[in-house]
Amino acid sequence: TKDRNGISQVLLRSPRGASARISLHGGQVLSWKTESGEELLFTSSKAIFKPPKAVRGGIPICFPQFGNRGSLEQHGFARNRMWIIDENPPPLCPIESNAKPHIDLLLKSSEDDLKIWPHNFQFRLRVALAVDGHLTLISRVRNVNCKPFSFSFAYHTYFSVSDISEVRVEGIETLDYLDNLCNRERFTEQGDALTFESEVDRVYLTASDVAVFDHEKKRTFVIRKDGLPDVVVWNPWEKKSKAITDFGDEEYKQMLCVDGAAIEKPITLKPGEEWTGRLELSVVPSIKSATL
Ligand code: BG6
Repeated sequence: TKDRNGISQVLLRSPRGASARISLHGGQVLSWKTESGEELLFTSSKAIFKPPKAVRGGIPICFPQFGNRGSLEQHGFARNRMWIIDENPPPLCPIESNAKPHIDLLLKSSEDDLKIWPHNFQFRLRVALAVDGHLTLISRVRNVNCKPFSFSFAYHTYFSVSDISEVRVEGIETLDYLDNLCNRERFTEQGDALTFESEVDRVYLTASDVAVFDHEKKRTFVIRKDGLPDVVVWNPWEKKSKAITDFGDEEYKQMLCVDGAAIEKPITLKPGEEWTGRLELSVVPSIKSATL
């Protein structure tokens, strides 16, 4: 671990040299690099690496609320809290190998959290890096309350892309989506693959695995997920970028958020129940269209 502004960060390194860096602030993945040291996640040049806000980039965790669909602050409070290292987490099911570099983090409801969200929870996050550089995030949320509660969730993943106008998202064709730019109205995707020429802020419903092709870089991000039915696609484009203070005016060209998420149908947990949301990110050279 190392410190930045007094906040611990954990560095994972695979035997072949891929790496990932995770901050205890928000349990946020801040960096994911290939074996050759290429950064795969976007972080704004204007990012602020100090609480209380999440860093603009990497993979902030939206919990227990996505966006402003509820009474909590935008995207919930988990991304703004200090997490602790979980020295002795309960075994994962299915059993995950402990052999690959990983870190287990824990967030529990604080007294202050209980005032704004009166549901006692335990949130365990594992971030693991495989030998081939795949990054896996496993979230486990447990209800340690005496009443049921519901939440929504997203891994708000900022992928680094070379030029947004050269990027296509596949795997969401023909799906229904809620458009945040039209009062969350429901539409059906008609096109082949999604390309970008203006602001996009959508929640695709019941998506399976998704691929993000970066034609200029000739690489494809593959997003595999479990327990996360929805996929958020967000790019603020020119006008919105200017309104975001910790984001450069032109930086929308170099990023695309594609999140594995559970939004449309909130997850409900009875007392003692646990939910698992698993995301696996990999990057492969793209020849043409990758097969999922
Ligand atoms: C997206 C939302 O997922 O996150 C957008 O759909 C929002 O509406 C964006 O602007 C960034 O949110 P924040 O709180 O990190 O600025």
